[in-house]
Amino acid sequence: MDIGISKKDRQKIAEGLSGLLADSYTLYLMTHNFHWNVKGPMFNTLHQMFMTQYTEQWTALDQIAERIRALGFPAPGTYTEFTRLATIQEVEGQPKALEMVAHLVAGQEAVARTARGLFPLVDKANDQPTADLITQRLEVHEKTAWMLRSLLEE
Ligand SMILES: [Fe+2]
Repeated sequence: MDIGISKKDRQKIAEGLSGLLADSYTLYLMTHNFHWNVKGPMFNTLHQMFMTQYTEQWTALDQIAERIRALGFPAPGTYTEFTRLATIQEVEGQPKALEMVAHLVAGQEAVARTARGLFPLVDKANDQPTADLITQRLEVHEKTAWMLRSLLEE
């Protein structure tokens, strides 16, 4: 395989994208969990908002995994691998509605940090499709973090 990126760089990018996939999957599941279990006066707003978020995230998981495959490496796809690779911790128990929002702000910011940390490597390797994918994910996660953060402010 020769797409103009060295095998070493493709491997490093695939490893970075695997971390991004693991964080994105962990945030996806957290968001869907909170969609199911949210309670209180903000139920309707948050139930709907979380659905919009996890639906968008679900599509992105596929794009990230398939970019890893296009770079010539296997995509992680088990809970064992995701747990090992993710920087985001799972949330135990049943947080209150605004605690859920705070967990999601932290999760959205964590995915943004993971994506941003990968950018210098991708830029140096001249990997435009991965740069484009990361840029799109940064835009979504930073915007969603702002929207969630706004729910916690006066
Ligand atoms: Fe639902």
